[in-house]
Amino acid sequence: MAKITISVIKADIGSIGGHIKPSEEVIKAIENYIKEAKARGKIIDYFISHTGDDIAILTTHREGLLSEGIHKLCWDAFCEGTKIAKEQGLYGAGQDLLKESFSGNVKGMGPAVAELEFEERPAEPFLFFAADKTDPGAFNLPLYLAFADPMYCSGLLLSPKLKKGFKFVIMDVSYTKADRVIELVAPEEIYEIAALLRDPERFIIESIFSRETGEQVVSASTTRLHNIAGKYVGKDDPVMLVRTQKNFPATGEILQPFALGPYVAGFMRGSHWGPLLPVKRNSTISFFDGPPVVSCQAFCVKEGKLTEAVDCFDHPFWDWVRNKVSQKAEEIRRQGFFGASMLPFSELEYGGIVKILKDLDKKFKIRKKK
Ligand code: F6R
Ligand code: MG
Ligand code: MG
Repeated sequence: MAKITISVIKADIGSIGGHIKPSEEVIKAIENYIKEAKARGKIIDYFISHTGDDIAILTTHREGLLSEGIHKLCWDAFCEGTKIAKEQGLYGAGQDLLKESFSGNVKGMGPAVAELEFEERPAEPFLFFAADKTDPGAFNLPLYLAFADPMYCSGLLLSPKLKKGFKFVIMDVSYTKADRVIELVAPEEIYEIAALLRDPERFIIESIFSRETGEQVVSASTTRLHNIAGKYVGKDDPVMLVRTQKNFPATGEILQPFALGPYVAGFMRGSHWGPLLPVKRNSTISFFDGPPVVSCQAFCVKEGKLTEAVDCFDHPFWDWVRNKVSQKAEEIRRQGFFGASMLPFSELEYGGIVKILKDLDKKFKIRKKK
């Protein structure tokens, strides 16, 4: 059987009332465009959703990774959506489409991408994560815990198929001339992996492979809009695909670390630390342009055809988590601009402070010694 590819491409092309959510009309325009491609047989199946102000187009097809045809289809769909967003006067219409015209694939053009190509197992469950008001480093800790820590992934102890561990491919996103990556294996190199992942603004997990079968299990987006545009144009709001079960961690082992609500970069003006709040599908953004949110849809796929999506964070357990994580959000917001609440200087997404400090610098005086 030929391999299938799952591609998820997402962009913020404008939203209602600030950076809250895209309009129904914009989503419909995108859906119609993609539906037509399915009717033509260009793609096998699709799923459209939004998380905060970002619209994600998930497609299944047989055109492989970084397919020009598939990427152009999604780019064009976002352009169609942008037309409506402009007509409706949505805020930030077309903001993630950073290049004038399409060239080759959407990498480096603004939209975030995650793709997996594989030979389907007899049953093929997978998860699709999308986060808003944060950046790709937000997935570092959940992935580390789910793939390298038996405190979270019991399968590492209980299933012989997981015992060999996993290979992590980690990207240094501070290097902008080309992709700079390192491969490290768990469990032997977990300290080295942790040493990199503790700095989520620079080192980001791009993919994870099973050492038992060599198969790719995870694909996550690594876009840094800041590096493409040279200035702040919005947070990088990542997407991720994770295959689950059998030789891979179980769905529940992948989900468990999200109950931590780890503090991640993003929140208001992409310049604060806030806890990552697990939310339901098609959620909006609210408190302090946040908190940073993550959604997760579960599917099975057969010969490229998708089941309906199951909303993983739509369960009473996650209501309880949401209350706890909201408390974390409120707690850190109490200290406003001070210290650990705001991101370090290098990560601030707006230039205001830089200007204030530059102006003040001239006014400092060196006191003469008596
Ligand atoms: C964060 C984000 C928002 C905006 C904020 C100000 O990723 O997009 O928090 O930074 O609403 O937006 P502007 O500067 O467009 O008024
Ligand atoms: Mg946005
Ligand atoms: Mg967004």
